Amino acid sequence: MISHNQTIAIVGATGAVGREALSILESRGHPAHKIIALASSRSAGTFLPYGDARLVVRELTHDAFAGVQVALFCATSDIAKLYANDALAAGALVVDNSSAFRADPRVPLVVPEINADAIGSHRLIANPNCSTIIMLLALQPLHERFGVSRIVVSTYQAVSGAGASAMDELREQAGSVLKGGTAKPKVFREQTAFNVFSHNASVNLETGLNGEEAKMISESRKIWGLPHLSISPTCVRVPVFRAHTQAIVVELGAPASLAAVRNAYQQAAGVRVIDDRAVNDFPTPLKATGRDEILVGRLREDPGEPAGAARRFCLLVAGDQLRKGAALNAIQIADVVAAAKREVA
Ligand SMILES: NC(=O)c1ccc[n+]([C@@H]2O[C@H](COP(=O)([O-])OP(=O)(O)OC[C@H]3O[C@@H](n4cnc5c(N)ncnc54)[C@H](OP(=O)(O)O)[C@@H]3O)[C@@H](O)[C@H]2O)c1
Repeated sequence: MISHNQTIAIVGATGAVGREALSILESRGHPAHKIIALASSRSAGTFLPYGDARLVVRELTHDAFAGVQVALFCATSDIAKLYANDALAAGALVVDNSSAFRADPRVPLVVPEINADAIGSHRLIANPNCSTIIMLLALQPLHERFGVSRIVVSTYQAVSGAGASAMDELREQAGSVLKGGTAKPKVFREQTAFNVFSHNASVNLETGLNGEEAKMISESRKIWGLPHLSISPTCVRVPVFRAHTQAIVVELGAPASLAAVRNAYQQAAGVRVIDDRAVNDFPTPLKATGRDEILVGRLREDPGEPAGAARRFCLLVAGDQLRKGAALNAIQIADVVAAAKREVA
């Protein structure tokens, strides 16, 4: 774990991911005076609650990282590109939640339960896209045991994936519509309340893939080190505040029984199985909210597969994308680096 002596800067502390990072650090007892909350000039001088204390938000500047050992970037790609070098120059470990460095072959893209060894001596580490983390963690036990040759995934993504303002939008629209009023879209193009729509990331005019789908493909391939892995994603927003759900059809590298597939999850790190057919108890975003683990359930053979093939299985998955999909994963990366440092010392 990150030592309580280390000073941690949260860039974007006022945002959805930044606040989640603060909440995790608070629950671990990290001292308030060892946290520097950074955001835009708009938020400078405001306060964020932190246990019994409150943190003064400071404006992010190029010299904001003096004395910082860990910098968790929870802002946009532009901000990461502008300020990550300042944090590195100040000697900090940088873990970035944006997509700024994810595709850079010199920067490791890490889910600690899967590829912690990619960290090595790197000081700049990219946190993967939230949907990618959730999907890969759910499939990692099967990948380890049988190999994975193909994935078809449909996402049901919470609005908080688009930040704090998107949660406000859902709250306002739902209130207004329930009172008989209208919904005024601001963050999203479409009405959020009582609606389902294709993910808001921009769509590539040639491929037809939106940005979220493209990330799920390229980032999964990088993390698993499988440059030709076949993935067919469809990413969709649903009117849920928090935690993404995914329906996955996975084709294994080798035939398996359902019992063997279930068995693969018994000791799986970061995953919890909720799969009670008798009472219809399966993963939901509400069950996943605030939890560290990714929930996996509805495990079943693919009824569309030719008889006797036994390689395709269906799953329903839910994971808190603000937590394991972003803030927690970033903190766990810093934990791995801290533990490796202690081993060397
Ligand atoms: N939300 C998710 O589920 C999720 C999951 C995985 C990864 N991510 C990634 O994590 C990052 C943060 O996402 P989010 O959802 O937390 O966004 P958000 O709620 O919109 O928060 C954005 C944060 O960035 C800060 N910021 C904006 N402009 C700034 C500037 N010029 N200087 C300093 N700080 C500035 C904001 O500060 P002000 O309050 O002062 O504007 C705020 O703290 C994004 O790159 C996102 O793609 C998000």
